[in-house]
Amino acid sequence: MTFTQRTNPYEEHISEVIFTAEEIQNKVKAMAKEISKDYMDKAPICIGVLKGVFFFMADLLRAMPISLEVDFLAVNNYSPDDRKQGVVRLVKDLDVSITGRHVLFIEDVIDTGLTLNYLLRNLKERKPASINVAVLFNKPKLRFIDIPIQYKGFDLPDRFVVGYGLDHQEKFRNLPYIGMLKANSILEV
Ligand code: IMP
Ligand code: MG
Repeated sequence: MTFTQRTNPYEEHISEVIFTAEEIQNKVKAMAKEISKDYMDKAPICIGVLKGVFFFMADLLRAMPISLEVDFLAVNNYSPDDRKQGVVRLVKDLDVSITGRHVLFIEDVIDTGLTLNYLLRNLKERKPASINVAVLFNKPKLRFIDIPIQYKGFDLPDRFVVGYGLDHQEKFRNLPYIGMLKANSILEV
């Protein structure tokens, strides 16, 4: 039996495409070029926070023709209240030591900045040679904490979006673009 072409079943839940797959790919390539230039001789450890980042990270790093290593962290929020206070639980730590190394911290989306702030503090205690942040989607409106971001992709409006790694209840990550969910889909899915 052959698998015939079909549309992604998530499509019907999207009310508006915010960034197309092509726009995202072009932006990721431009970011990769800039980062590669800066890290040419630094052999960075590129650290991503699971799970949302893995689509962006896979495309970004494959467009960077330099020596680098990859590692991941995974975090959970204990509760919505904890999330508001920036309390995150590390459920997977790094496999490698970053002491004395150049770290490129990669995030899919920054909203309040609380998660990133917590993780950066944690990583800095391990005395890396440097840490810079690359983020694809930035929501400037909700930022509680001012965090320097060296490499930024798109600014997003203060709206909940899905696709290209971003989920709603673990779904929608595999949409190749960024879209807004229809209001009733937020409840249904
Ligand atoms: P914050 O910066 O600590 O507020 O949290 C960022 C995290 O919230 C991200 O890593 C995502 O998991 C999640 N997040 C924030 N905005 C969105 C969105 O629009 N869609 C899906 N997930 C989001
Ligand atoms: Mg994330």
